[in-house]
Amino acid sequence: MKKNFYVSTPIYYPNNNLHIGHAYTTVLADIIARYKKSFGYNVYFVTGSDEHGQKIYVSALKEKKDTRKFVDNIIKNFKELWKELEINYDHFIRTTDEKHMQFVKNIFNELLKKGEIYKGVYTGLYCIHDEEFFTKSQAKNNLCPNCGRELQKISEEAYFLKVSKYKKWIESALKNDDILLPKTRVNELLKNFVKDLQDLSITRKNVNWGIKINNESDDVIYVWFDALLNYLSTLTYDKSNLKINDVWSKNSNTEILQIIGKEITRFHAIYWPIILKMLNYREPKILSHGWIIDDSGDKMSKSKNNAVSPIELIKKYGKDSIRFYLINGISIGEDGKFSENLLIKNINGVLVNKYSNLINRTTKLFLKKRKDGVIPKRENNKIKIINSTKENLNKIKNNYIKEMNNYSFHQASKSIIKYLDELNNYFDKSAIWKIEDKKKLDNHFNFLFNEIWNLSILFSPILIDSTREILKMYKEKEISFAKWDKDFSNIKIKNIDILFKRLK
Ligand code: MSP
Repeated sequence: MKKNFYVSTPIYYPNNNLHIGHAYTTVLADIIARYKKSFGYNVYFVTGSDEHGQKIYVSALKEKKDTRKFVDNIIKNFKELWKELEINYDHFIRTTDEKHMQFVKNIFNELLKKGEIYKGVYTGLYCIHDEEFFTKSQAKNNLCPNCGRELQKISEEAYFLKVSKYKKWIESALKNDDILLPKTRVNELLKNFVKDLQDLSITRKNVNWGIKINNESDDVIYVWFDALLNYLSTLTYDKSNLKINDVWSKNSNTEILQIIGKEITRFHAIYWPIILKMLNYREPKILSHGWIIDDSGDKMSKSKNNAVSPIELIKKYGKDSIRFYLINGISIGEDGKFSENLLIKNINGVLVNKYSNLINRTTKLFLKKRKDGVIPKRENNKIKIINSTKENLNKIKNNYIKEMNNYSFHQASKSIIKYLDELNNYFDKSAIWKIEDKKKLDNHFNFLFNEIWNLSILFSPILIDSTREILKMYKEKEISFAKWDKDFSNIKIKNIDILFKRLK
């Protein structure tokens, strides 16, 4: 039976268009989804938009637009971007979908009945102008950090989630159960948040954009409680090939991966597992990546005016280059820089000099020596340099698989570069352009073409357009690990254009 793989991205706020930082999370999810498919998994890949924040309401108000219409427009741009990057998601959830909203209400009432949600009084510092609560540490001198106006101490009735009851449990789960990767984030979380874990207020009053707990009430569900539940509700839609129990029931063996950025780790690695526990579901697996930062080390964000728009970059450099930079240029877990210069360096250094060049020089030489373009058979299996190269390549491939399975994306991409280096070295060391003996040469050509195919399997979850070209070259319809070490003897190759051209 096929194994299942469920992968999610955060659902993004549609108060603004997305930038390279958001593309980072989503590209990683797409890469691992394609990789798992390549191994024959039944994959369910979900993304979407988180539409009920006050931020969104305010942004729409500023533009004097109806909130839903304002959001519709931005979501069109989200989907456009995912199309440009060829993000192959299975479901795009919107938290304003009727289906999701009803689901959230139902869960709220289920937890209320179970006693996991109770009514209490929320006390905090409130900015009447911004309609927002702040904590003491956020509000220096009792002033609103947004507008500078004086804050009022306000108490209002609210519903609370009994998070504190699970303090011991979450502490042990974080320490022992691999809920959160990389492991280095666990201590941070324990120290800063779990230590004084308090019940979470999950409703607000005086909010006019959000999910009401029921039609008669003026209690609106807190946007994070609403948003986290998307990871369940997304499995209730008719077209989903996996249902909630297939993924989240305690006896499910579906592999789960939820990719997020580090600043939302607290919600995903504390509150989310606790909500799942309350519902009697299994634990999640969260991969928390670092930020994309600019040259001066600041987090890329719209509000800082340093956000790079992916659409223009894709037009200029192609989706493959961007996808490759995101996996290769940034180490998971750490912050990483992004700039056009770094992107160009990456394209020239790896995709042009190593990948494209290898294919180019192999096919050029081959078509010079073999006018018919038919890949010959390998007759001799005792060629030393071929055997020793193959041995190294096998080791590198196994490392790549290990790293991908551990979600060490950055390392996996380094393994692809090692594979490339090994093949380029082999090309140089064997000096095949000098070999006159036809039979000897046949062996080398056969090996090279078979290995360029294997190499392209490693690249295939990352490089989309290039993989399409490779398929044309080998006259294949599909590329996957099932076709590892396929022998292309007697196949007439099709000459293809240069995959990556050198950039200035
Ligand atoms: N709506 C919430 C998520 C709810 S999930 C149940 C949210 N949305 S967001 O639009 O602000 O950001 C979503 C994701 O984008 C986060 O994972 C965040 O880390 C990521 N990034 C935003 N800026 C980023 C960088 N500069 N670098 C890397 N990731 C960045 O939070």
